[in-house]
Parts: sequence; C-alpha cells; structure tokens
Amino acid sequence: MRVTVVGSGYVGLTTGVALAYLGHEVSCIDKNEAVVEALRKGKPPLHEPGLDSLFSEVRHRMRFASELTAETAGADVVLVCVGTPPQRNGDADLRYVEEAARALAETLPEAADTVIVNKSTVPVGSARRVEAIVREGLARRGVRPQVSVASNPEFLREGSALYDTFYPDRIVVGSEDPWAVERLRRLYLPILEQSFTPPQGLPRPDGQGLPVFITTTPTSAELCKYAANTFLAMKISFANEIAGIAERVGADITEVMRAVGLDRRIGPRYLGAGAGWGGSCFGKDVRALLALAEQYGYEMPLAQGTLRVNERQRRVVVDKLQAALKVLRGSTVGLWGLTFKPNTDDLRDAPALDVARRLVEMGARVRAYDPVGMSRAQREHPDLALEYAPSPVAAADDADAVVLMTEWDEFLHVDWQAVAKAMRGRVVIDGRNALDRSALERLGFQYWGIGR
Ligand code: UDX
Repeated sequence: MRVTVVGSGYVGLTTGVALAYLGHEVSCIDKNEAVVEALRKGKPPLHEPGLDSLFSEVRHRMRFASELTAETAGADVVLVCVGTPPQRNGDADLRYVEEAARALAETLPEAADTVIVNKSTVPVGSARRVEAIVREGLARRGVRPQVSVASNPEFLREGSALYDTFYPDRIVVGSEDPWAVERLRRLYLPILEQSFTPPQGLPRPDGQGLPVFITTTPTSAELCKYAANTFLAMKISFANEIAGIAERVGADITEVMRAVGLDRRIGPRYLGAGAGWGGSCFGKDVRALLALAEQYGYEMPLAQGTLRVNERQRRVVVDKLQAALKVLRGSTVGLWGLTFKPNTDDLRDAPALDVARRLVEMGARVRAYDPVGMSRAQREHPDLALEYAPSPVAAADDADAVVLMTEWDEFLHVDWQAVAKAMRGRVVIDGRNALDRSALERLGFQYWGIGR
C-alpha cells in the first residue's frame, strides 16, 4: 500500500519505518527541513532503540519531503502523526493537526481514494473536525475525491516504540466507513496475523497472542487513548500513594506491589513506585481529559488525584536528600539520569529536571550524567545551572549524595567501589527503586529508596 506519514517524531517515524519494513511504500513528510535532511542522510533525528538499524535497512524504499504533493496526499492511507502540545488550560493544541488537514485539502487530487488517519493523540471530536476541514477545502477547490477520516490512536512507549508497533496488544480503529476500516485492517494485516519475519534485534515475544483489532466509532477511539493513559498514570500514582504509607508503617513497597500485581485482575505492570511518572503523554493526556470533563461540568476526582499524587511525588526525592544531608545549601549532589525514562533522549516533563531545578534553587551543586540526554538538556534547558559529567563515577566525584532518577542500564551495572572512592559522602537516593539495596549497604552506602 502507498502510505504517507505526516510528522516524523517518535510516533510518525517509528510507524513509517515499521510499515516500510512490512512492505508498504512509505513517504514521510515533515515541515522541519532539518529533519527531512537528516532522514535523507540516513540519520533519524531521535534516539529510539533499534530505529537506526531498521531505518538503514528500509530507507531506500522510503521517501522524505517537507511538503505534501498530489501524489503523497493521495496515498491509500495518510497517517497524521503531528504533535498536539498542551495549551495553558490543559486542552490539546490542535494547530498542527488542523494545519495538516488544510494541507491535505489543498493537495488531494480529484482521483484520490484516501483514508486520512488521526494517529496523534487528539481530543474527542477531532476526527470530525479534520473531516470538516478537509471537506470544506475540497469543496472550495471543486474536487470530489473519495476520502474518509478515521481515528487510530497510538499506544507505543518511547524507548520500546518499535517493539510496541510490531507486537501491540490491540489496534483500535474508529471510523464510520466500512471501506476505511477494511483498508486499515489490510494496512496492519502482517501485524494482526503476526505473519512477518521479526526484524533483527526485535524477536517476537514468547506466548504473545495475536493483537485484537477493535473497530469502533471515532469518538470511542479518541476517548480510549485518554482513558488508557490516565489509567496507567493512575496505577503508578496509586503505587506511589501506597509507597508513602509503606514508608510510614515500615513495609517495602516493592514487595507489597509484587503481591498486589500478581492478582490477575490487577496485573504487575505500572505499579513501580519511585520519583513519579513523566514524559510527553501521561501529564498531557490526564490534563486534556480533565479539560474535556470541565467542558461538560463533570468532575473527575480520580484523574485529579492521579496528578496530585504525581506532583507530590516529585518532591519526595528532595525531601529525602534534605533528611539525609540536613542542609542542602553548599552540598554536592551527583544526579544520575535526566531523561524521563531510560532508552530515550526525551526530556519532556522529566522528573529529574524538576529535582535538579529544586536542588539548584536550594543552593546545592548538581553534577549530572545521562547516557544520551545531556546535549539535549544543555540545548533545551540552558537556564538550568547544572554541571555535566562524562560518566556516572565522575558525576559522583566529591558528592555528598548520589541520586538515581532514571534507571538506565549503565547505572545498574556501575562499579560501586569506584563510586565509593569518588564520593565524599555515602548517601544514595534510589528514585526508581532499581538498585540492589543490600549490596549497597554491604559496601557501606546509606541507601534510601522510595516506599521501602
Ligand atoms: C506512555 C504509554 O505507556 C503509551 O502507551 C502511550 O502511547 C504514550 O505514553 P511513554 O510515556 O513513552 O508511554 O512511557 P512509559 O513507559 O509508559 O513511562 C511513562 C512514565 O512512567 C515514565 O516516567 C516512567 O519512568 C514512569 N513509570 C512507568 C513509573 O514511574 N512506574 C512504572 O511502574 C512504570
């Protein structure tokens, strides 16, 4: 199938590369010339495990451009994967989605037979909005191609975006047109049937059942994305809320949540207590859901509580440092990890940045290290008065405390003897409950986890 992907961010580029691997003819459109140039040179402009090698395998079959043409607009499927940043009131900003819709309306040729798909996380009603913009534009031009707008929300996680694309639990399509649903079913058929040869380095997981193909209305598809992300964020916030009480009564949250999660009705994932969730989706989507509810005069106390717990959680790490070091002014803190989670270079809403900012405000000297996020942090947060170190041990140099904020593998396998030698103090705050407490205590460290 001829597929055009509008927007080459985490979702668009991953989806485009995966669809090209599955044999589709893919064109990626991004209005940022620098991104297009990088893609033409074979360099994906973002860090995502496995993307570089898969991209180099399929890129000769892909095309890249900064603008739509009649040919790319009139593909069999056009996936709109542009950003929907939050507005001040929490509502998603649809500017780029609408821009893409207008560009499509201006370029779709008379003979097109195209399904336009909203893959960006968009508020309820956006498929209708896009459809209206496209139809108006086409009417103005006096052309009548066959067009349908569907919603097909994306559930991929950064850091495992390709894996999630090839091995999803479900694919959700919201559409009123049976022919459009059928076309999207065919687009994803190799994934639905798991009939493709797994790409190098992305083996099919054992015991993985076939993904479920869910067809529903555009409105239900749009709402399900917000509901899924709010539920996942709520699960983590729940674990963090229990972590606070676990600490007070002397229980260990990791053992509590293991026991809780083994109940099949609950499930073990997204119960990891720590410094709280971040990233471009959870906060944005929970707030967008709350903004939607507000428009209907409807209260959502669970969603509100999910945010409140997460905001409080970000202070927990600083509180612990204060409890351990007593005075933060004049102390040196080694900060391990900046990105909002491991295996990505994404710093959006990263808890580590909040912690860093607060520590600097309180007069601490912060020496940070992150395996991939440092140049981006320097570029995107020039105001942040951090020192950047070339390694985890260098970040620990002369430090009173080390704080783990992102559980990159590199930190889990660090040489603790060398860390002990480099540090002035012995305090280790494990903001992700990812380190081996007893091993650290044996080496003389003073270990502080979250909720243990
Ligand atoms: C999320 C959703 O998982 C995905 O389905 C959606 O499409 C986009 O938003 P993402 O934000 O990329 O994906 O990352 P995810 O792995 O879900 O982690 C989000 C945050 O939660 C991270 O900051 C992570 O550290 C934190 N987290 C995750 C926890 O604190 N505890 C956990 O148990 C799991």
